[in-house]
Amino acid sequence: MLVTVRITSALIDPALLDLPWSTPLEEWPADHLVALPQGISRHVVRFVKLAGTVYAVKETGERVAEREYDLLRALERIGFPSVEAVAIVADRHAPDGEPLDPVLITRHLQFSLPYRALFSHTLRPETMARLLDALAALIVRMHITGFFWGDCSLSNTLFRRDAGAFAAYLVDAETGALHAKLSNGQRGEDLEIARVNIFGEALDLQAAGLLHESIDPEVVSEEVVQRYERLWHEITYEQEFQREDRHHVESRIRRLNEMGFDVAEVAMSLADRGAFKVRPKVVDAGYHTRRLLRLTGLDAEENQARRLLNDLDTYRAESDLSDEQQAAHRWLTEVFEPVVRAVPGHLRRKLEPTELFVQVIEHRWRLSEEAGRDVGLALAVQSFLADVLVHRPDEQAVLGVEVTQAVP
Ligand SMILES: Nc1ncnc2c1ncn2[C@@H]1O[C@H](COP(=O)(O)OP(=O)(O)OP(=O)(O)O)[C@@H](O)[C@H]1O
Ligand SMILES: [Mg+2]
Repeated sequence: MLVTVRITSALIDPALLDLPWSTPLEEWPADHLVALPQGISRHVVRFVKLAGTVYAVKETGERVAEREYDLLRALERIGFPSVEAVAIVADRHAPDGEPLDPVLITRHLQFSLPYRALFSHTLRPETMARLLDALAALIVRMHITGFFWGDCSLSNTLFRRDAGAFAAYLVDAETGALHAKLSNGQRGEDLEIARVNIFGEALDLQAAGLLHESIDPEVVSEEVVQRYERLWHEITYEQEFQREDRHHVESRIRRLNEMGFDVAEVAMSLADRGAFKVRPKVVDAGYHTRRLLRLTGLDAEENQARRLLNDLDTYRAESDLSDEQQAAHRWLTEVFEPVVRAVPGHLRRKLEPTELFVQVIEHRWRLSEEAGRDVGLALAVQSFLADVLVHRPDEQAVLGVEVTQAVP
């Protein structure tokens, strides 16, 4: 019998055709698969490696696959942190003619850690707090763009390191919907779903002995909501001020930028006694990420970008270069790239380059504090490679790598 499948994809990789589409995903032979940690899911999800790229393959319904594919593509267009949709494979049949479910293929998010991998040993409460911060920030960012998730949970989120914090990514958009704007009711509903899901996940972790004894599952889910509410208020509250205090508006915008939010416009209205009411319109997060990308072409997480920009600004001040673009280019080729190149091949899978650079400059700062003088970048790099990096686990998605003990 002739095997036919229908592939919908923006970027077709002919290697995709070689996968065993006439076999249910659950029964795929091990030689096609990559063992990587994954979250809990209703559908069968497997990872495959084709020509050096790892993909996640999820068997699901046709309508569901199309919806999720379209939504992920829409999120990608607006630069939202989510996994990238690659293709839908439909019209699958077993050799006996029995129809098989279509699959959705997404690109595996490199260096991402599902929460189960992070919890493979008990997390310190501070690490847990940073994880919840990242998740709350993801939901805020989602709601600013008008995206209703409908199934926010730890399992549907992936985490990447971000300069001592975490950056969260959406992995499962199946229940989502993109609107022009969300009402307070929609936001509340989304948060309620998050609260219930996360409570359940925290209970599971507790039952498995993976939750720190000082952490209460109910508090974990409450915390996500509270962190969300605080952040949402901070970026949307209406502020009243007198005409002569207009610099307060600028301070507010600066603070929002510092927190990583871009402000598109400021809505002003006249209040009583000649006062003004001001509400900034925050369009998206990623303020530092975008500035770094524009200056250097480096694509980093928000906190990483902030640190890298600080280093770049210091470099620019020290080298007396007034032109920002020129300074950025020199910093990239004379500072950033040499550090990344100094990592020997066998250590490159441990940390992605931007995170590595951030950790090197922090290491330099620590060594300098101890020594009471600046130890310099070259020495800091050597010491970081020899004393720190060699002891770290691999975090890149590669064949058979176990991401355990991933958190210090
Ligand atoms: N592109 C990807 N990169 C990394 N991991 C992924 C990717 N796609 C899926 N995963 C992993 O597979 C798990 C299950 O995927 P997903 O949540 O899409 O399945 P699901 O069956 O729709 O889930 P649910 O039960 O919530 O409906 C995720 O938690 C994640 O760990
Ligand atoms: Mg899921």
